[in-house]
Amino acid sequence: MSFTTPPVITVDGPSGAGKSALCKALARYLGWYFLDSGKFYRILAFIALQYKVDYMSEKELVSLSSYLNIFSLAHSNQLQVLFRGKDLSYKIKTELIGRTASQVATFPCVREALLYHQRAARKFPGLIADGRDMGTIVFPDASVKIFLYASPQERARRRLFQLQKNGFSVNLQFVSDALKKRDNCDYNRALAPLIPAQDVLMLDSTYISLEEVIIKALAYAKHRLLLVI
Ligand code: DC
Repeated sequence: MSFTTPPVITVDGPSGAGKSALCKALARYLGWYFLDSGKFYRILAFIALQYKVDYMSEKELVSLSSYLNIFSLAHSNQLQVLFRGKDLSYKIKTELIGRTASQVATFPCVREALLYHQRAARKFPGLIADGRDMGTIVFPDASVKIFLYASPQERARRRLFQLQKNGFSVNLQFVSDALKKRDNCDYNRALAPLIPAQDVLMLDSTYISLEEVIIKALAYAKHRLLLVI
């Protein structure tokens, strides 16, 4: 296979559909880089909450975004998103940060400012990009586009499991309500709403295991990558 620009596989979809697990598996299998684009929004949300920056101020958020950058660890295909050179990954997993990130993500100038950073993650041998607008806005020329979804009930169940595993004490009702609010914000915002790209594989993960999702996505990706050569 030879590409003039690094090939990209985009995986978009709502929270809790299993995008991150799928992306990590694809990145491992192909030996490509993995970008979790939600981190950009989560870090801005975290910094705003932590340092009492007004997270409803588009101007302040844009100015914060200039301190973000992409860093690749030696011997790892996971790309880190750093703020002033610091990795804040372990501080941004809470539901509050997720919800605030979703709010931060509604501002057009913030999204515009983050485009450059996200596109900087496109490196050889290739990139797996996880998010909401990867296939529609950030990498519209991606070779492979996947939209991964699942029923709201199943996504809430998975998110609950994930949060509990990370030591958070939450219940299903709380997670379900939070997910509904986030879906509402992500699907209905004016700019870059969560919608499938036109040339996308729609993959419903409600009734299938992660292994089956990976097998289906990989088969599709291999087929598409051969097609575009
Ligand atoms: O994927 P995540 O849960 O870490 O994302 C947190 C929020 O960030 C999500 O609710 C909406 C926003 N987001 C976005 O608007 N566009 C992306 N490409 C990724 C995340």
